[in-house]
Amino acid sequence: MGSVDMGIWTKRNEQPLFQVEGLTKYYGNRIGCVDVSFDLFPGEVLGIVGESGSGKSTLLSCLAGHLRPDLGSVIYDGRDVLAMAETERRKLSRTEWAYVHQNPRDGLRMGVSAGGNVGERLMAIGARHYGTIRDTATDWLGRVEIAADRIDDRPSAFSGGMQQRLQIARNLVTGPRLVFMDEPTGGLDVSVQARLLDLLRGLVRDLGLSVIIVTHDLAVVRLLADRLMVMKDGRVVEQGLTDQVLDDPQHAYSQLLVSSVLQV
Ligand SMILES: Nc1ncnc2c1ncn2[C@@H]1O[C@H](COP(=O)(O)OP(=O)(O)OP(=O)(O)O)[C@@H](O)[C@H]1O
Ligand SMILES: [Mg+2]
Repeated sequence: MGSVDMGIWTKRNEQPLFQVEGLTKYYGNRIGCVDVSFDLFPGEVLGIVGESGSGKSTLLSCLAGHLRPDLGSVIYDGRDVLAMAETERRKLSRTEWAYVHQNPRDGLRMGVSAGGNVGERLMAIGARHYGTIRDTATDWLGRVEIAADRIDDRPSAFSGGMQQRLQIARNLVTGPRLVFMDEPTGGLDVSVQARLLDLLRGLVRDLGLSVIIVTHDLAVVRLLADRLMVMKDGRVVEQGLTDQVLDDPQHAYSQLLVSSVLQV
């Protein structure tokens, strides 16, 4: 462990923000995910990779409370998420958590202006002053590189990359501590992906976010994730520091995943 990154080391001296133990979800007889456990520390980014159908989205949905697991526990900041009343969990989702969908259409209100999409989240946490809401929305559009003169346009008039950036602004404007992302760069072309990744990396660092990010793309985790979890057939087959897993994968499936990318 001589090469442990000092940034991660510091983060790991604190209490975990999110503790997951034995999380299991079946769809009838079919495995969704089985016996998943990990700790996430404040400011840490956890990447989840694995082939299609390996249970990544199922796991993320269970973690974010969109899907009820069959077994296991999820503790956020010392609070038992699965035992919470639905109203309490929804409040968490509005305030301390955020969820970035793969398809921006699932995370945006397509009939509402860009400014409205961002402002609506502020209103949901109690903001009332129109001028302040509009100023904050303008500021956030700028942070995700959307020009201020597009504030009254609807997302349907935006490109896929712009929609995704708008979804990110809408999610981060409330200052969440924990952000779930399911393939945030999927479906975008490569140059757009690269810029979005840069932007995400800057925001994660500046805001000190804790992030759980699901992706097919090892370049995404290489750039963003401190730690990496590799899933296959619903199970975690390997987890560890990203550089360690990518540079020296131990499990045969992780080796395959890494080598297949190198050959591209
Ligand atoms: N609503 C559902 N009903 C029944 N089975 C489901 C449902 N959702 C997922 N599954 C099954 O659970 C398993 C895990 O699927 P999941 O969507 O979590 O995989 P994934 O890793 O996110 O895949 P992808 O990379 O394609 O998004 C698969 O076998 C899938 O068929
Ligand atoms: Mg998925």
